[in-house]
Amino acid sequence: MSYMKEKNIHTPEKFIIAIDGPSGAGKSTLSRLLAERLSYTNINTGAMFRTVALAIDRAGLSLDDNEAIEKLCHQLHIHFKNDGGQETVWLGDEDVSELIRGSEMSMLTSQISALPVVRKSLLDLQREMAEHGGVVLEGRDIGSVVFPDAQVKFFLCASDEARGLRRHEELLSNGFDSDLEQTIAEVRQRDDADSSREHAPLVRAEDAITIDSTNMNIEQVLEKMISVVEHRHDELFMGKASGE
Ligand code: DC
Repeated sequence: MSYMKEKNIHTPEKFIIAIDGPSGAGKSTLSRLLAERLSYTNINTGAMFRTVALAIDRAGLSLDDNEAIEKLCHQLHIHFKNDGGQETVWLGDEDVSELIRGSEMSMLTSQISALPVVRKSLLDLQREMAEHGGVVLEGRDIGSVVFPDAQVKFFLCASDEARGLRRHEELLSNGFDSDLEQTIAEVRQRDDADSSREHAPLVRAEDAITIDSTNMNIEQVLEKMISVVEHRHDELFMGKASGE
């Protein structure tokens, strides 16, 4: 793809970049590509919540059992690997990248991500992973809760239909069964739950730049993001006034 061949842009000061938004808006792809272009680390926080959901499911814990979930969270070792551009998520020494992607795991993840004990444990881990900057984090509450002082914040959205279709295609390409109408309904259901939960709901940070990707391709969104990052860099370090 052409944008991969262009020279990497250089931002000497290492930013924290937050990309929040509902499922299927393109966060994972854009976050990975943006991190690649900036030579930053990509942190997919949804994959972290999914991995915790997998562990809770395997341990057979009740979602009411706060104490057991807290204990389990403290024992988990979640990390990412990047092998020549291929990103994987690991639970201890097991690659769980594919296991966490099914629809059932998506619904369970939405449920466990509402638990304060899970959020607290992943909040600490996310802050630790990103403490030196030079990271792109994607999730639901990165710009609002995890890094309210992030130098660049995006809120990426798209219509329900576009997001459902993308999720449907992603499921099929990962070898899962999927029905388009049902997938659109599940995407809506999950967004309602993620947006209405009490703790750290999906919300657009006041100072986030909204990008609606419904009628944009990945390349167009990426270029828009790069121009925002460059602009922000000039604004912060070259003393240029903001025109955003
Ligand atoms: O981005 P994703 O679809 O992989 O996220 C899975 C679920 O995890 C999603 O329903 C909401 C939750 N999540 C969250 O609550 N906070 C985050 N920072 C990331 C994901």
